[in-house]
Amino acid sequence: MRVNPEDVLEVAELIKQLCGVALDETKGYLIESRLADLAAETGCDDYQHLCRKALDGDRTLRTRIVDAITTQETLFFRDNSPFEALKHKALPELIDTKANSLLPKRIRIWSAACSTGQEPYSIAMTLYELLPDIQTWDVGILATDISDTAVAHASRGVYGQHEITRGMQSDMLSKYFSQQATGWHVKDELRSLIRFEHRNLLNPLDDIGPFDVIFCRNVVIYFDAMTRQDVFCRLADRLTPDGYLFVGSSESLADLGSRFTPQHHCRAVYYQPGKTAATGVM
Ligand SMILES: C[S@@+](CC[C@H](N)C(=O)[O-])C[C@H]1O[C@@H](n2cnc3c(N)ncnc32)[C@H](O)[C@@H]1O
Repeated sequence: MRVNPEDVLEVAELIKQLCGVALDETKGYLIESRLADLAAETGCDDYQHLCRKALDGDRTLRTRIVDAITTQETLFFRDNSPFEALKHKALPELIDTKANSLLPKRIRIWSAACSTGQEPYSIAMTLYELLPDIQTWDVGILATDISDTAVAHASRGVYGQHEITRGMQSDMLSKYFSQQATGWHVKDELRSLIRFEHRNLLNPLDDIGPFDVIFCRNVVIYFDAMTRQDVFCRLADRLTPDGYLFVGSSESLADLGSRFTPQHHCRAVYYQPGKTAATGVM
């Protein structure tokens, strides 16, 4: 099914409204390649018909459109350096502060666009590696994504050989996964740290947190500047005063002001928007 310029405008409006992804007039090929089958299958004459049908209350169709347009690419320990900074900087500091004070021994981490789960499971493995007495801590990881299909996959915690070989080290694999006929299964001790939920980052976030650490990586790169800024400001509000924010390796928050002054540990960049605001660090 061929796309025309009016289709592109209408689909772009719908997609922005549904998930924040910004499509410009050059993205006709993407609409054709990702939505043509869905439009045909649902009996739509053209893409504008598909948009009307989705807006007319068909939630399943809206979900399928978001799934088709968004990119779920991910892998275990993606880019590695954020996990190194989590292990050698953020978690040791949090653990020291909480272990030596009257604060509850509680750690809360949010993987804010978790895709099929490789990111939150990598966070959970990092925690297990660092905290030999993890049972004495109240640890919780929230893993959310707009895609129901991705969240279901993440929550199942079963990965094929190709997914497993992307980023996973063999010692971690043997410690935290068991091989079964249906694939590599995440062990229960890891899975039980994580709660999986559908969540759209465009919607209010006031009902969750505060978090000691937020990972929000490789999702807002598809948003326009205003939506991106709005999402990061609202994420920062869900952090504890000393909380850490990790973003994707190609993402810079330089346009968001001094609250988002980049901090460095080895090759990783992270942000502490609560701390920066409180200490006035520039
Ligand atoms: C490229 S993946 C990144 C996964 C992981 N964070 C990583 O870096 O490997 C982007 C994810 O963002 C999700 N996403 C897109 N728009 C979203 C929104 N408005 N709210 C929540 N998740 C969204 C997609 O469904 C997809 O799973």
